[in-house]
Amino acid sequence: MTDGFDLRHLPPGFYDDPFPVYRALREQTPVRRMPDDSVFLTRYADISAVYHDAETFSSDKKREFAPKYGADSRLFRHHTTSLVFNDAPYHTRVRRSILGALIPKALHRLEPKLETLVARLLDHAEANGRLEAIGEFAGAIPVEVIGDLLDIPDEDRAPLRDWSLAILGALEPVLSAEAKAQGEAALAGFHAYLSKLIAERRAAPGDAETDVLTRLIQSEGEPLNEMELAENCVFLLNAGHETTTNLIGNAIELLARFPGERARLIAQPDLLRYAIEEVLRYESSNQLGNRVTTRETKIGDETLAAGTFVTLCIGAANRDPKAFDDPEQFDISRHPNRHLAFAAGPHKCAGMYLARMEARIALGAFLKRLPDYALDGKPVRSRRARFRGFTEMKIRLR
Ligand code: HEM
Repeated sequence: MTDGFDLRHLPPGFYDDPFPVYRALREQTPVRRMPDDSVFLTRYADISAVYHDAETFSSDKKREFAPKYGADSRLFRHHTTSLVFNDAPYHTRVRRSILGALIPKALHRLEPKLETLVARLLDHAEANGRLEAIGEFAGAIPVEVIGDLLDIPDEDRAPLRDWSLAILGALEPVLSAEAKAQGEAALAGFHAYLSKLIAERRAAPGDAETDVLTRLIQSEGEPLNEMELAENCVFLLNAGHETTTNLIGNAIELLARFPGERARLIAQPDLLRYAIEEVLRYESSNQLGNRVTTRETKIGDETLAAGTFVTLCIGAANRDPKAFDDPEQFDISRHPNRHLAFAAGPHKCAGMYLARMEARIALGAFLKRLPDYALDGKPVRSRRARFRGFTEMKIRLR
């Protein structure tokens, strides 16, 4: 099963169920040399160690992205300026600016509007007698929440979701000319919009405690320049879209696939916070991470030269029996659950409290209002190796 494994040529059935391949890799070649001489990691302990050692394993993607996008492209400039693909000290400075606005205390203000939005989406579903759970529910929530976080006027939000999908789509291991063109066009739209928004916010600052854009504009120490500001706003808008849509969509699919777990959750709603962590572990929205070595190092028996590209398979780590009892079991009461769905170390997801809050409110209301829902046909997978989720999921409300 692992013979010839190559992210650029994935075996049939991989997108539906990559876990048998991940398992075979973890058992047979956990530090796998790929045809392009990069290394693919599948063990929890290795991946966790890499995430924690940012000096040996850099997040800087300039060398990787220059040939992929072209050094004068918008995609190159965007992805190499956002905090996630940078190291200290730039990464530390940007992260410090946004973190305060993403802690639970600051997020409370978003809850009432989110509850109203979720109720409205479910009213709509009940009135129609059916629901397409991605476009009309899971995918409709994050865009509004991040719009609220950056105080983007409601009437400006329509194009944000498609822009975000196009920009993230360009991160797939294989980049088609069409996906590249879509990513470039989305960034052009985003940049034009943001330069206007940033100018307005500079003229009339919001509350720096809660408005992320104002926080970034007023960042302490060396302020971000115009380009850094715009690219990190685009990143924030993107980081929370597809990942959180997939968390909510994957939860709806898993609770349909495991009716016993759904019944348990409905009977004991207090389990919801554990159930969300289990969805994150079992079907991690973000399956792959990347790093590049800054110096020679060893993982297992394999020596990695400086400059080696490393792919961290979060999806495989989260089913490693050395880290989780009975890892193939979907258990909504699993606790503790130290999954790596949000990564770990200095780049650990800055939006994890926000993602959890969205999932808690969306799924809590969904299960209360539609406890007997059923999938109407097979949901359609978004055939991506990096982001795991669905593009369409029809629901019968019963
Ligand atoms: C289920 C939802 C989410 C998942 C699974 C997820 C996953 C991740 C992962 C794995 C990383 C680390 C990337 C790396 O260093 O290789 C990350 C970073 C990040 N995420 Fe999330 N994310 C989610 C939602 C969000 C949301 C809602 C936001 C906020 C709007 C957000 C903002 C960020 C930021 C700013 C970083 C960069 C942190 C840094 O480099 O210091 N994420 N996320």
